[in-house]
Amino acid sequence: MKKVYIETYGCQMNVADTETVFSILAQNGYARTSDMDDADIIMANTCSIRDNAEQRIWGRIEQFNLRKKRHPEVLVGILGCMAERLKDELLDSGKVDIVAGPDTYRKLPELIAAAASGTPQIDVMLSREETYADITPVRLDSNGVSAFISIMRGCNNACSYCVVPYTRGAERSRDFSSILREACDCASRGYREITLLGQNVDSYGFEGTGFAELLGMVAGQVPDVRIRFSTSNPQDISEKVLTTMASHPNICHHIHLPVQSGSDRILEKMRRRYTREGYLSKVRRIREIMPDCAITTDVIAGFCSETEQDHRDTLSLFEEVGFDAAYMFYYSERPGTLAARKYPDDVDLATKTRRLEEIITLQNRLSLESNRRDIGKTFTVLVEGRSKKSPDELCGRNSQNKMCVWPDSRHSAGDTLQVRVKDCTQATLLCEEI
Ligand code: 5AD
Ligand code: SF4
Repeated sequence: MKKVYIETYGCQMNVADTETVFSILAQNGYARTSDMDDADIIMANTCSIRDNAEQRIWGRIEQFNLRKKRHPEVLVGILGCMAERLKDELLDSGKVDIVAGPDTYRKLPELIAAAASGTPQIDVMLSREETYADITPVRLDSNGVSAFISIMRGCNNACSYCVVPYTRGAERSRDFSSILREACDCASRGYREITLLGQNVDSYGFEGTGFAELLGMVAGQVPDVRIRFSTSNPQDISEKVLTTMASHPNICHHIHLPVQSGSDRILEKMRRRYTREGYLSKVRRIREIMPDCAITTDVIAGFCSETEQDHRDTLSLFEEVGFDAAYMFYYSERPGTLAARKYPDDVDLATKTRRLEEIITLQNRLSLESNRRDIGKTFTVLVEGRSKKSPDELCGRNSQNKMCVWPDSRHSAGDTLQVRVKDCTQATLLCEEI
């Protein structure tokens, strides 16, 4: 049996895709290995979101080729977003044998077989239908607690900075009956948490069923499993999603709501379809319906033409919302996107990094303040495993997705228990079992 090793980069969607790829390959007689030096086929499932993500993968391709030098029969494959974006450029490097885009994974067995007979293979066709609905992923989560279920693929938003619509193609939703089946399957295998994944979950739609209905159906179908979802878009998340979250005890109170900028002028150039005030009113509504709901975000510093005033608008929005956590980036121009074609990347690197640092410093304080507000509160946590810092402590997340640690010798991964917060750091709630 040939052995396949896959490294996964980028978002949770890619993790779910790697699980699909392993499933397709297993059905075709390939085995999985987690040791690159043991593999006959070495692959990376890649990300193109920022230039540094791609640079890192070029570095890995060099590493893969060191093994190939010693064992010329080893095949190197590039999957996912970078395969889709760079296409032949990867084959032309002479360092890659297989290039497969996100919608062509069913063809991997064929591509591998053809590449093994000496001709490099590429398939980067995007599809309007492929959702891999019938493929049961090989779950890679080693402690068997948390599973991803992809509910849709692609993206129809046209955010001017973003490469995803080009790498993952048009949006399509997966048949809800296959999603429900997969949720039941996860529950029966002992999974205690499911995260529903899509680039824009609020635009899920299959035969009249929207995201709020789907969320309610999944939560009702597996009432003992915690449900999370990602990602929501500020203009699309609906009242009905919020009331569904509030009315099912097993849906977690956490919304990841990428804001990208606090300046209306920049939001318009980014082609986001909301204003600063629209975003803030969405946040107020979330908190009216679920006062304990955590809100996290993504932000981009130094987008084209961003001024100090625009930047201060972002800082003040962060202050006003008081995000529980954030993923923070500086703008990286992606070839072919609307922004790359239309606007010069005119904020210099030093300014971008300085603004990013200012946002990070502010968010570090906001995260600490958010955690301090939790001191004295009790939460239900789902045990993920031993804490990294101390063998006598367990770690797990609460509904708000905050990491909790507490001394514990009785429980193990997959258990649920109540803890009280005694203290905190910026990243963790320090708790005791109650
Ligand atoms: N440059 C920097 N960050 C980006 N993101 C998306 N495209 C870019 C880009 N060109 C960020 C956004 C998005 C997150 C997944 O990555 O904040 O929400
Ligand atoms: Fe990276 Fe976006 Fe592709 Fe996910 S969808 S792998 S974040 S480029």
